[in-house]
Amino acid sequence: MLLWLLIGSGCHESAATDACVESGLTWESFGVGFTATYCRSCHSAATPDRRGAPAGIDFDTEADVRGFADSIRRTVLDEGSMPIGGGVQPLDLARLDDWLACTQ
Ligand code: HEC
Repeated sequence: MLLWLLIGSGCHESAATDACVESGLTWESFGVGFTATYCRSCHSAATPDRRGAPAGIDFDTEADVRGFADSIRRTVLDEGSMPIGGGVQPLDLARLDDWLACTQ
């Protein structure tokens, strides 16, 4: 365990890549469904009612998510401020963490 921590902290880039590869999560297998379930009712160019979500903060494509990856990590995983009202399943939070590591 200690050895694992030492290797992990000394080699952050490859650790992130490993988590990404091991998770097997992609935009197609995870991102599309996650953003549809939790975000795009407000954050989409196509939504009929943004409910106050700022113009331009949309998660319709993988490129959109890459551009906002840091903000998504902060609001959902660090601050818990998005989605408004919460409700993200714990398993989906863990998957989001792994998947965002793949978008760096
Ligand atoms: C019910 C509507 C709604 C849903 C669902 C929603 N948001 Fe938001 N979002 C908002 C509103 C309104 C704002 C602007 C007010 C604010 O920043 O709190 C906002 C702002 C943001 C911002 C910019 C503010 C910042 O601090 O950077 C980000 C990033 C964001 N949302 C991410 C997400 C993500 C990721 C999801 C899905 C997990 C999500 N939101 C789900 C309504 C929503």
